Amino acid sequence: MVIMPTPVTVVVLAAGLGTRMKSRQAKVLHRAGGKALVEHVVETALQVAPAERIFVVVGYQADRVREALAATGVGFIEQAEQKGTGHAVLAGREALSGLGGRLVVLYGDCPLLRTATLTGLVEASASGEAACVLLTAIMGDPTGYGRVIHGPDGRVTAIVEQKAGSPEQLSIREANMGIYCFRADLFWRHAGEMGTSNPAGEYYLTDMAEILSRAGHAVEAMRMDDPREALGINTRVELAEVDAILRGRKRRELMLAGVTIESPETVLIDGGVRVGMDTAIGPFVEIRGKTTIGENCRIGAHSIIFDSEIADGVEIGPYTIVGASVVERHAIVGPYARLRFGNHVGEGAHIGNFVELKKTRMGAGAKANHLAYLGDAEIGARSNIGAGTITCNYDGVHKHKTTIAEGVFVGSNATLVAPLEIGQGAYIAAGSVITQDVPPDALAVGRARQELKEGWAKKRRERRTPA
Ligand code: UD1
Ligand code: MG
Repeated sequence: MVIMPTPVTVVVLAAGLGTRMKSRQAKVLHRAGGKALVEHVVETALQVAPAERIFVVVGYQADRVREALAATGVGFIEQAEQKGTGHAVLAGREALSGLGGRLVVLYGDCPLLRTATLTGLVEASASGEAACVLLTAIMGDPTGYGRVIHGPDGRVTAIVEQKAGSPEQLSIREANMGIYCFRADLFWRHAGEMGTSNPAGEYYLTDMAEILSRAGHAVEAMRMDDPREALGINTRVELAEVDAILRGRKRRELMLAGVTIESPETVLIDGGVRVGMDTAIGPFVEIRGKTTIGENCRIGAHSIIFDSEIADGVEIGPYTIVGASVVERHAIVGPYARLRFGNHVGEGAHIGNFVELKKTRMGAGAKANHLAYLGDAEIGARSNIGAGTITCNYDGVHKHKTTIAEGVFVGSNATLVAPLEIGQGAYIAAGSVITQDVPPDALAVGRARQELKEGWAKKRRERRTPA
């Protein structure tokens, strides 16, 4: 958190449905850069205020919004009916009007705002007398945004919404970014003056500019150089634009911290992902969720990794999927492997092509190099699982466990019918169907014996040769 010159309370407006998204899901829950839009905004708010002074206004799908933010510790205000952005802040009057200092209002659909911009806004407000400082930007196409009207002294006299603007007002290219820092005392003294006499019949928070200005208080615009930082999301097209920007920021941050990314524009990395120095990421890789990747790893092209922990020096081959799994140092996984979920791959273990693991622990140095399904299994250190091995972990009703001790050799195409235990150092003959436990150091053979008929093929050919 950045130390602010004055106590700051933040209200994040997140109660609206977001009609223009054409969605049954609340707009602020749509995701960009791997997080819900409102999560980004709350994260930025937490940089200028403690969680006890951050309040999120919820309404449409309130429970889901609360749930998405539960871990942050912020407070919530219910806005039962959504009658506009002004109405949303008024819903918090009881909780908020006693809190002095500055009142920052952020919109939950505006996830690109940087901490430095927000602290700059608060500092500008704290160092002057203005009742309100708001962020604005000159936009190429400000359609949909409120337009900022200045008086002769340069101060803001009003914000005019798209729906209410005259053609002349709508030709103004300075847009309201929807990010405000109010003097809390003056805001609450005048908040009751917001009305609904506008084409939408809503309480517009933007009316506060005119209300405060008319009451003789200064309202100031702080212009941003890059309006993209305040892109408000109203449609899925804007959602995609914002997602692309967030992805770009994340890749840049990682590259500057020592991660190599080949063809960066093809790589998707969620905001919460951590990657260590000198790791190289190939083209078209996706790294999502709560994933941590160590130093000196290679992540092969087209791989997808989510919610996983990858230690130092791991090699993930191309086209590999790793979900909710742990991979220890120097292990090799893939190409074309799938760690479905709940796996633990030990140090230096090898998982090769077309091997699927589910809830399986591979001990250090254990290998399953080709074509296998290992589910609900525990495989000891240095054991070797031959090509085509299958754990039959499911009997149609229940899942059963396969336990393979250290140094076991499982020959190719073995069918291991769980529940099953194979003791240390045992051998399983290739092609066996194993239904009984195997003691340590034993050989288990479970297949039909081979029959040999000398000369059979030759005789058959001779019989078939036409006369
Ligand atoms: C708003 C501004 C506009 C600005 C633009 C910037 C107003 C009247 N207009 O317009 O000047 O240029 O943002 O992006 O403020 N919300 C509630 N309760 C409500 C209504 C909205 O919580 O009753 C929340 C929404 O969930 C959303 C945010 O407020 O997160 C903004 O609402 P939205 O409808 O997107 O406002 P804009 O029309 O974009
Ligand atoms: Mg909006």
